[in-house]
Amino acid sequence: MIPINAPIFDEEELKMVKEVIQQSAMTDASYNGGNYVREFESGIRSFVGARDAIAVNSGTAALHVALMAIGVGPGDEVLLPSMTFIASANAVKATGARPVFVDVDEYYTIDSKKIEEKVTSRSKAIMPVHLYGHTADMSAIMKIANERSLYVIEDAAQSLGSVYGTRMTGTIGHIGCYSFYPGKVMTTGEGGALVTDDYVLADRARMLRNHGYDAHNSLSGFGLNYRLNQLSASIGISQLKKLPGFLQMRASNAYVLNMLLDEQIRPKVRDGSRYNWYLYTIMSERRNQISAALRAKGIDSRVYYDPPVHLTKAYLGQKGLSRTEEYSTSVLSLPVNPLVKSADLETMASTVNSII
Ligand SMILES: Cc1ncc(COP(=O)(O)O)c(C=O)c1O
Repeated sequence: MIPINAPIFDEEELKMVKEVIQQSAMTDASYNGGNYVREFESGIRSFVGARDAIAVNSGTAALHVALMAIGVGPGDEVLLPSMTFIASANAVKATGARPVFVDVDEYYTIDSKKIEEKVTSRSKAIMPVHLYGHTADMSAIMKIANERSLYVIEDAAQSLGSVYGTRMTGTIGHIGCYSFYPGKVMTTGEGGALVTDDYVLADRARMLRNHGYDAHNSLSGFGLNYRLNQLSASIGISQLKKLPGFLQMRASNAYVLNMLLDEQIRPKVRDGSRYNWYLYTIMSERRNQISAALRAKGIDSRVYYDPPVHLTKAYLGQKGLSRTEEYSTSVLSLPVNPLVKSADLETMASTVNSII
């Protein structure tokens, strides 16, 4: 079966993991982390073009740390789309703040025109999610945030490598958060990272990921154990080297699908953006039929996400999200990961075109 996404390893990762084990360097609980963690952070920082990167042990941890670093807590509200993976909302909930859901635009990202109507005196931050690797409308979001004195935390868990204008997603808001879960464009097993240009926020994030220990090893605030272990960091160092090649293959697979698929059904690319093609998402009322036909031909496809977050048990009650509800019943993501071959793309296109 061609998977929707899957980790891709070779001898290099094995070599790195062996090195860490031989050095007994599994973890380092100092403020800056161990040598592999620091090298991985430096790789992330230079890949995305941010001043600082802080590695943590999941994308969820990255979001939680980011929200705590900007001081989000009980009584506050954070604006985010409901069309996202539930972890985005759970991270807000973990701080004691209330997630306020905003509908999406035709790119499946938070609708910047609908943000202001949900801003209240309790709003503290906007959390755009670059879903599927599609870029959110960052210029408009940053403008609203500046006018309303709100922070912007980018949930870039799915969009490592996506470019908006001249910047990588994750580097435009105050903090950007990535995930290195095995289904992502690169992996560390489990893992995540925050990036920021603000040294004060970076310092807070380092304390928050390590029980509240500061750079002088004094306990100077709240924190948890959100450290990335060094085995994972070493895998990340190796994966980062391959990331440009992985992204190139995704882009070329997406290009082929664009050539073969009916125009109506192709994902829309925001002007001035380049996606990382984490997923290639089409929309069809016959998605179940398409998915079953693809499965019969050995190709996996997935629905992300149905139900949307505001229709799940833990978040019931918010209204006015009609586009999110409509899209959640018809989106279907196709694989364009580096394991997908030309013949698979042709099978996907002919199957989809024959059903829509
Ligand atoms: C949009 C989004 N946000 C947050 C997360 C959480 O990341 P993780 O699974 O690494 O905790 C994920 C991924 O799984 C995601 O897709």
